[in-house]
Amino acid sequence: MTEEKLTQIFVMGKAYDVPAGITIMDAMEYAGYRFVRGAGCRSGFCGACGTVYRKDGDYRLEFALACQEMVEEGMHLTQIPFTPAPRSDYQLNELDAAENVLLQHYPAIARCVSCNTCTKACPQDIEVMDYVQAALRGDLKRVAELSFDCIQCGLCAMRCPADIKHYHLSQMARRLYSVTESPEPAHLTARMAELGDGAYDAELDEMMSMTLDQLKQRYAERVIEKEGEAL
Ligand code: SF4
Ligand code: SF4
Ligand code: FES
Repeated sequence: MTEEKLTQIFVMGKAYDVPAGITIMDAMEYAGYRFVRGAGCRSGFCGACGTVYRKDGDYRLEFALACQEMVEEGMHLTQIPFTPAPRSDYQLNELDAAENVLLQHYPAIARCVSCNTCTKACPQDIEVMDYVQAALRGDLKRVAELSFDCIQCGLCAMRCPADIKHYHLSQMARRLYSVTESPEPAHLTARMAELGDGAYDAELDEMMSMTLDQLKQRYAERVIEKEGEAL
């Protein structure tokens, strides 16, 4: 029988031997800690598990997604809640995209010192500083495109010396861009028309009358669309 390779980590200062090559999230659970908040998809998509740690002999704090970063020997871990950065309140249909509304709602972007820390912190490899600069210029399209893969983890905001709420800023830009500048997708227009004409009413009525077991069977037998293949 091969022996499992173990690595020593510290959680809240207490030493634990955990299997090598597992994620911070798995290691903390292996050690007996329970994630009540700060965990979601476990696959690097939901952004809920932003975490802070330190390596042995290094005073600097490191930031990562707990479900993606692997444990290393001598890692000092802690558990933090999600990043509750304040979000500006707005009604999309009341905004005037011709004004620089991003700057009005997030004036801290004018304090960016171009340190690029946000870009280096981003687990999605997004050019975060570049979209902050684009936001300053009021370039909604550029912010929306650059930030498209943002998972709202908040690691950029945790480290920004200018106190910028990057992920709320870019979400606002994407929303505003989609309702003001981006062309309406043809497939969406067509689907909305189908819905309006009642094309799916009979199927919906049928499903509403099904038992739970019938619904489960329908789900199991569903046809799954393959990438690049329209049904
Ligand atoms: S971390 Fe903040 S100050 Fe530094 S480049 Fe990013 S937005 Fe600017
Ligand atoms: S831009 Fe910020 S919030 Fe979005 S994924 Fe990158 S680090 Fe996370
Ligand atoms: S749990 Fe969703 S990104 Fe880590």
